[in-house]
Amino acid sequence: MSDRRNFIQKAALLAGAFAVGNYKLNAQNILLEKPRDDESFWKNVRDQFPLNPEKIYLNNGTLGASPYSVIHAVQQHMMEVDVNASHGTLDKQVIKALAGFLNTNETEISLTHNVTEGINIVCWGLPLKAGDEVKITNHEHAGNASPWLNRWKISGIKLIVVSLGNTAEETLTNISKAITPKTKLINVPHIPCTTGQVLPVKDICTLARTRNIWSFLDGAHPTGMIQLNLEEIGCDFYAGCCHKWLLGTKGTGFLYVAADSRKWVQPIFAGAGVDTGWNLKSTPIIYKGYSDNGHRYYFGTQNESLYQGIIKAIDFQQEIGRSLIEKRVKYLANYLQQNLLSMGSKIQMLTPKESISKAAIISFKIADKDISKLQNQCSQNNIITRFVPENDINCLRISTHIYNSISEVDSFLTEVDKFLKT
Ligand SMILES: Cc1ncc(COP(=O)(O)O)c(C=O)c1O
Repeated sequence: MSDRRNFIQKAALLAGAFAVGNYKLNAQNILLEKPRDDESFWKNVRDQFPLNPEKIYLNNGTLGASPYSVIHAVQQHMMEVDVNASHGTLDKQVIKALAGFLNTNETEISLTHNVTEGINIVCWGLPLKAGDEVKITNHEHAGNASPWLNRWKISGIKLIVVSLGNTAEETLTNISKAITPKTKLINVPHIPCTTGQVLPVKDICTLARTRNIWSFLDGAHPTGMIQLNLEEIGCDFYAGCCHKWLLGTKGTGFLYVAADSRKWVQPIFAGAGVDTGWNLKSTPIIYKGYSDNGHRYYFGTQNESLYQGIIKAIDFQQEIGRSLIEKRVKYLANYLQQNLLSMGSKIQMLTPKESISKAAIISFKIADKDISKLQNQCSQNNIITRFVPENDINCLRISTHIYNSISEVDSFLTEVDKFLKT
């Protein structure tokens, strides 16, 4: 309750600064107990974003909008850099904030610019040789498929594509059956970009560990959507970003490499920060070794103003409450899924119905119809959705964040209804 009060007080201050929103704390709103009914609280949350009121944004799986607090902090920091030449102070702070948010150690986090960069660091750093098997899935985004295809092309590793099941159990069974003595790595999306299915990652990583196989998760979506806990999952590697569900600055991400797995990932690119010392004047020349933390994988001048944005995005989510955010985004998505399912047998639901396998992304197709036309129709009505051509799945993906409302989901459902009748 006190978290929520802090958030509302700070939100009110910010709203004043930007002349948006006019929310008054209502002591009757017991939000933690009744999150679903308290639309006024979520309206206040929405007012913390500069989102175009004419648009309904339901493509949060591609990019999340940043709140004013993030944008403002980045702007201020940029001024500070240019006015006072302030630089080099935020690296440790942002790592600390991320490690706390992800429940892991600061030494295990590297800063990246996006998920794909993190995937490439591990993909090229692991000592894989021709014939070694890497398992990926039939639901990959280009950001995960492309690095592995490239390594397959250059190094001759074997890429084995495993089909996801409709349930957590089925998926686990499929992965387990695909393991052979040559399997070196299991690399799956935690939440695929296609259907939003939440994979049983803890079980997958345990399975990998017991079989002496590395586990690597493409974590483009979970950070800021669900309460991600890396220690609990127990993977070797996890690549995530801050520009989707975390609502942070664009072009920011992180790579987690578990401390006991760091020895396996060779830094391929090197620069300032990667090593513990060097001397070109001595004979022989000295290169002392790699930093004993995640800094061994990134280097050189960074845009620290964007780091400021990550820190503020984490603050923003923590002020609202992570469990509340997860409940809200799932509630909106579940409302959408249930209503779609009630629209008749033409709706082909691709997102699983079991609760452990779904979160805030719902994808579906419509029998005998080209669903990309529904996306065009929505776009003409200012509703932003995502057509998913990946892996020839060709479905429509809707992703709901905290600034969305039930009435926005209803507007989308009205478009589906009209489309079904055409
Ligand atoms: C599942 C998945 N993996 C990887 C990516 C690539 O992310 P980035 O653009 O941050 O590299 C995306 C982007 O949408 C994604 O959905």
